[in-house]
Amino acid sequence: MPSVLSIQETNAMTHFLDIHTTAPTDLRTIIDDAQSMKKARAGRPKGQLDDDQPLAGHMVALIFEKPSTRTRVSFDVGVRQMGGQTMVLSGSDMQLGHGETIADTARVLSRYVDLIMIRTFEEATLLEMAEHATVPVINGLTNRTHPCQIMADVMTFEEHRGPIKGKKVVWSGDGNNVFASFAHAAKQFEFDLVFTGPEPLDPERSLDGLYTTVRNPDEAVANADLVVTDTWVSMHDPQSARERRHNQLRGYQVNADLMAKSKPDSLFMHCLPAHRDDEATSEVMDGPHSVIFDEAENRLHAQKAIMRWCLGV
Ligand code: CP
Ligand code: NVA
Repeated sequence: MPSVLSIQETNAMTHFLDIHTTAPTDLRTIIDDAQSMKKARAGRPKGQLDDDQPLAGHMVALIFEKPSTRTRVSFDVGVRQMGGQTMVLSGSDMQLGHGETIADTARVLSRYVDLIMIRTFEEATLLEMAEHATVPVINGLTNRTHPCQIMADVMTFEEHRGPIKGKKVVWSGDGNNVFASFAHAAKQFEFDLVFTGPEPLDPERSLDGLYTTVRNPDEAVANADLVVTDTWVSMHDPQSARERRHNQLRGYQVNADLMAKSKPDSLFMHCLPAHRDDEATSEVMDGPHSVIFDEAENRLHAQKAIMRWCLGV
């Protein structure tokens, strides 16, 4: 199986596969473009085209092997605003990995569309798609990472508080795929990342060195500029693990008491969908620290900038 790095080095396509495999200067360009594109169309009806229509004439395939609300709608609307066309495909309705190899699907789709976004289970599926596609491929979430989400999160933080460089970000909960992309971003955008969660749900070892662990959540959030959490049971986790995970993670709930121990002007983020009053209380989600709906909106703007960067338009 090829590594992400070897694909980026050998394939002329500009894929957006992960944050750690995208150069910091490119990540910065994407965030800056996202901010200016957002400003340029502020207040317009959502269905109105952008003035420059950079995706005019482009066809984009959006493939989902898992459920999605934000990723599906924000990519679809984003392409349309930029003057392109989309087709939303369900992995289970395709031959993907069942009737034919991922490589053959990638080769075939590349004859029909100009860009592929895929949300899948195994990272290997994403990498095989990228290796064999002759059009750019974007990672719309795998079991291991969720880079588009964290681009929107960095954009959202900077919109509210200025440069994220040097800030303290605390993740409370499961060391999952969204955390992994935060860890990659900590290095690329140069912020400090603290993980607080139970040892059995520690992040994967490949992320060692990108963050520090503080087991006690009260101590972890001291002086935090941003507190983040996510669902306790991800889409790829077995439902049979639900009760155990809830028991392990209950002490890491983000509630008003925990937020009160962070900086007074700290922000709260959650990629959504949230299980209200499990990983975060409604009081926090709807409270003064929360920017969760700006975060959701910025998926649209960040991904529009990612697609432009991939296509060079
Ligand atoms: N945050 C996020 O990716 O949401 P969806 O699963 O609804 O796409
Ligand atoms: N960690 C979650 C993120 C959903 C956007 C999951 O993978 O289900």
